[in-house]
Amino acid sequence: MTAKLIDGNALAAQIKLEVTQQVIALKAKGMTPGLAVVLVGEDPASQVYVSHKVKDSEQVGIYSVLERMAADTTEATLLAKVEALNNDPAIHGILVQMPLPKHIDSQKVISAINPAKDVDGFHVANAGALAVGLPGFWPCTPYGAMKMIESIGLNLRGKHAVVIGRSNIVGKPMAQMLLNQSATVTICHSATVNLKEICLTADVIVAAVGKQNVVTADMVKAGAVVIDVGMNRNAAGKLCGDVDFDAVRAVAGYITPVPGGVGPMTRALLLVNTLKAACA
Ligand code: GUN
Repeated sequence: MTAKLIDGNALAAQIKLEVTQQVIALKAKGMTPGLAVVLVGEDPASQVYVSHKVKDSEQVGIYSVLERMAADTTEATLLAKVEALNNDPAIHGILVQMPLPKHIDSQKVISAINPAKDVDGFHVANAGALAVGLPGFWPCTPYGAMKMIESIGLNLRGKHAVVIGRSNIVGKPMAQMLLNQSATVTICHSATVNLKEICLTADVIVAAVGKQNVVTADMVKAGAVVIDVGMNRNAAGKLCGDVDFDAVRAVAGYITPVPGGVGPMTRALLLVNTLKAACA
């Protein structure tokens, strides 16, 4: 079997088109959605990510501001910036790019964001809402991964979904979303014993570790759906995910590529969340 590709670029383009149309409709009513992206420091990967987010916003007609702050910005200054954005009526969504410099308490900063503007879905109010099935903002990466699963028409009810990784940004919310669709969910992590055996019983595998070749072909049941959230560089400096793509592709039913998979979907769902924040 050769797995079908789930094309993140194509799906994201479709979502962006829908957002564009809704932004046009909102603007006709005199409302322009606004997104503030805050970058502290000069981490090269973060600089690329935030410039993409700002560019995407402009493409769909969302007003965006990039707030660049020096690496030695104090926690108090950053908290004051967040508070100013909370009170800015032109800004509906606030994203503080992670990771923050070590001298700043990330959780404190996330907690300072008004949950109604927390388009990352990182605030405990939104994480809690997802956990108990109430409306709120869902973190963009797992939300995008769910949209990819939805795109192939898979009914998750009773399916075994294995999430590898337990981060607050991806693994935990991903597991909640799969559970909310009535999947039987197993969360695996660095202390998991028998990862291979657990994965072999999975109908859906979501790999979100940040390490190359965490999922190899001998861990995948024939026909399984494999979603690769990883974003790594291999020895040759080429972008790759957490999944041994070529080998797993020969076994799986569906697979997401890296690049061109979950990455563009994450960016598209940020626009969806920002539009939702503006409409609230
Ligand atoms: N760093 C890596 N991914 C993300 C994300 O989705 N949101 C924020 N704020 N920072 C990140």
